[in-house]
Amino acid sequence: MATEGAGAMSRLVFLGPPGAGKGTQARELSHELGVPPIATGDMLREAVTAGTALGRQAKTYMDGGMLVPDDVIVGLIAERLSQPDAKRGFVFDGFPRTIPQAEALDELLQERAQTLDRVISFEVSEAELLRRLTGRRSCPVCQSTYHVISAPPRREGICDRCGSPLIQRDDDREATVRHRLNVYAEHTRPLLEYYRRRGLLTTVPGEGPIEAVRAVLRRVVGGAV
Ligand code: AP5
Ligand code: MG
Ligand code: ZN
Repeated sequence: MATEGAGAMSRLVFLGPPGAGKGTQARELSHELGVPPIATGDMLREAVTAGTALGRQAKTYMDGGMLVPDDVIVGLIAERLSQPDAKRGFVFDGFPRTIPQAEALDELLQERAQTLDRVISFEVSEAELLRRLTGRRSCPVCQSTYHVISAPPRREGICDRCGSPLIQRDDDREATVRHRLNVYAEHTRPLLEYYRRRGLLTTVPGEGPIEAVRAVLRRVVGGAV
């Protein structure tokens, strides 16, 4: 783990449409900052794999590209924020994604006498989002993501990090991807204005090499990461 630089931000939200690169960047940057990445999509997929009540409830929504109800998500986040590692900070990936979720987060942080440091929105064209999602391959075990063309694993079909066979996510079929993009526009895009009004929003270009996007993020969060 890298040492946290003086003044580096530690309570971050990554916002952006499906395929924007939130997960790709959150996993690396959170590691550099020494805080956990908290990805509601990953948490839900783990619950689906484990076959828990939460997983069974979430699966229908996720397969259809619809949002899981706010109360379920807020309960999940409340529990996650209570774990000791989240005291140092977090990088939220895929949460919040509705106004009620953002309001619930404000309350949860207030109870802990904390505030968000920054909300970073990734801007990527729709054509590029479609290209990324339809070519994405994911590790069902450690949740790493790859792309058949732009970020292939060292051995075809095998996760670099843990050696598991890669899969295509059920919601990465083109029709479902289009639906997820519409859901983003309707329910999540209003959060840009919500955070802009609070002076918390920074938008970054999400296109270009993964490393170049990461360099921009490092500058935004500051500190010697
Ligand atoms: P979730 O898992 O959060 O999916 P998402 O928001 O649709 O976002 P993705 O994971 O698809 O995209 P990403 O931005 O992480 O992109 P990635 O880094 O993988 O949610 C899934 C479902 O769970 C939702 O539909 C909903 O049902 C439910 N859910 C989750 N959270 C919820 C909430 N808060 N409320 C309600 N429901 C919720 O990158 C994509 C691809 O592009 C990869 O192949 C990657 O290798 C590649 N790539 C990344 N960066 C680059 C680059 N710079 N250049 C080229 N390729 C790149
Ligand atoms: Mg993701
Ligand atoms: Zn893996």
